[in-house]
Amino acid sequence: MSGPLLELEDIHVAYGKVEAVRGINLKLDEGRITTVIGANGAGKTTLLSAAAGLLPWRGRAQYQGRDLARMSAEDRVERGFCLVPEQRALFGDMPVLDNLLLGAYVRRRDKTFVRKSLESVFEQFPRLAERRAQEAQTLSGGERQMLAIGRALMSQPRLLLLDEPSLGLAPTIVRDVLTRVRGLRDQGVSILLVEQNARAALDVADHAYVMDTGEFVLEGPASDLATDPRVIATYLGGSSD
Ligand SMILES: Nc1ncnc2c1ncn2[C@@H]1O[C@H](COP(=O)(O)OP(=O)(O)OP(=O)(O)O)[C@@H](O)[C@H]1O
Ligand SMILES: [Mg+2]
Repeated sequence: MSGPLLELEDIHVAYGKVEAVRGINLKLDEGRITTVIGANGAGKTTLLSAAAGLLPWRGRAQYQGRDLARMSAEDRVERGFCLVPEQRALFGDMPVLDNLLLGAYVRRRDKTFVRKSLESVFEQFPRLAERRAQEAQTLSGGERQMLAIGRALMSQPRLLLLDEPSLGLAPTIVRDVLTRVRGLRDQGVSILLVEQNARAALDVADHAYVMDTGEFVLEGPASDLATDPRVIATYLGGSSD
């Protein structure tokens, strides 16, 4: 495939009369980590939810060169388009293993697919293998985020949309989670990473967009934005972790 894996053009999303996303343009290249950073309330979750088909939106969107608006939820999953939501949305009273198996629900009849996916997830997250019989709600915050990502990997995605994986995690755990996200990128999974934690996101990403009240205000290689005085003043100020 030539061209970007995901291309969003002039996307608008509104809650009633209030426009939370106001004409954004984004290109995501295959095999890279693209991040959208922005403060609380900037519209990051709204943008991801719209892209994942969970909210109505206006504009043009293409995934693998196809019109995203015409893709059903099943189509998206089959084509490897997978959202890891902000709240992690795990089934707390179900074992880790059952939470993982739900990630392959669409392919559940393909036993080989499910077995291979599970082997690969357990290989990448040995902690989940150790805790496979444990209820999800008994996991630590970092382990729950790993489980949310592991569940997404069960569908063998090509594009992972990660909404704020650092939320509520201690700095060392954030680094651990994002190092694994980079590992996924190195295995060929493309990533759209949405984060309030600008420093951590710019550290791990290849390309970055800065979102402010529903619009993208800056764009560039992540390493350039990490040293951009405007980004430092507004998004990196004071936090040195
Ligand atoms: N269900 C909703 N109904 C009405 N307004 C909403 C709804 N969800 C979000 N908003 C508003 O839309 C704007 C963008 O919210 P959004 O959750 O997308 O921001 P965000 O960048 O993800 O923030 P955070 O970093 O805190 O997760 C905010 O002003 C928010 O109050
Ligand atoms: Mg959000």
